[in-house]
Amino acid sequence: MPSGSSRETREAFRRRIRRTLRPTWLGSLRRTTPISTECGYDRGRPVDRYYIERFIQSNRADLRGRVLEVKEPLYTERYGDGATAIDVLDKDGGNPRATIVADLAGMPGVASHTFDCCVITQTLQYLFDVGAAIRELHRTLKPGGILLVTVPGICRVCPVKVAPDYWRFTASSCERLFGDVFGERQVTVESHGNVLASVAFLEGLAQEELTHAELDVNDPLYPIVVTVRAVKELAA
Ligand SMILES: C[S@@+](CC[C@H](N)C(=O)[O-])C[C@H]1O[C@@H](n2cnc3c(N)ncnc32)[C@H](O)[C@@H]1O
Repeated sequence: MPSGSSRETREAFRRRIRRTLRPTWLGSLRRTTPISTECGYDRGRPVDRYYIERFIQSNRADLRGRVLEVKEPLYTERYGDGATAIDVLDKDGGNPRATIVADLAGMPGVASHTFDCCVITQTLQYLFDVGAAIRELHRTLKPGGILLVTVPGICRVCPVKVAPDYWRFTASSCERLFGDVFGERQVTVESHGNVLASVAFLEGLAQEELTHAELDVNDPLYPIVVTVRAVKELAA
């Protein structure tokens, strides 16, 4: 029976053999600062946008009637053939595209049952009270209305001088957050990404530097983006 310390020594030896037989060549990634601090915008399109656009595109039929988007009507203009009216919300009154200046967590000027669809991409991490925003979105959706949300999972933090960045999300936290307001059966949550895409995204590489086959591998342990499609019950 080997003593505790000789067992430890054997395990340490095995680990060293593993490192020696399967060495990792970090190459140009052996650095403590990212390759780009622009999230990939200076090299192409950011990796997270691959998943965000794919999600919105695959749900494009939901962008119909009166649609709400935050900051600018990027995805509604691109994919919302069925949109008949577009509202742009921002808490920043200096945004010239904003038709509604309000905090998502409290929109007293917006009547209940206003929107057919709300497209809220990469915004909820900036709201400390995420639950209040989800309740407000539920309130302002028409019965049968649809909420399309994307939130960051594995992602660098936004500089505080740009905006306080409070949260990162998982599929489990989104299931609870949205399920508690819309009802569990009304909510579909998916995560997108894998370890290679996560490393590339953290380094600020662009999606053009990976292949579609690499980007499309889905490993739920490495979610770059979590997406939520929530439908307000007709009776609500
Ligand atoms: C990074 S942009 C994301 C929106 C854009 N649709 C996108 O996909 O990139 C974040 C926007 O959310 C706005 N914002 C941040 N906190 C907010 C809040 N509490 N209520 C409403 N808008 C907010 C910011 O002013 C900014 O215009």
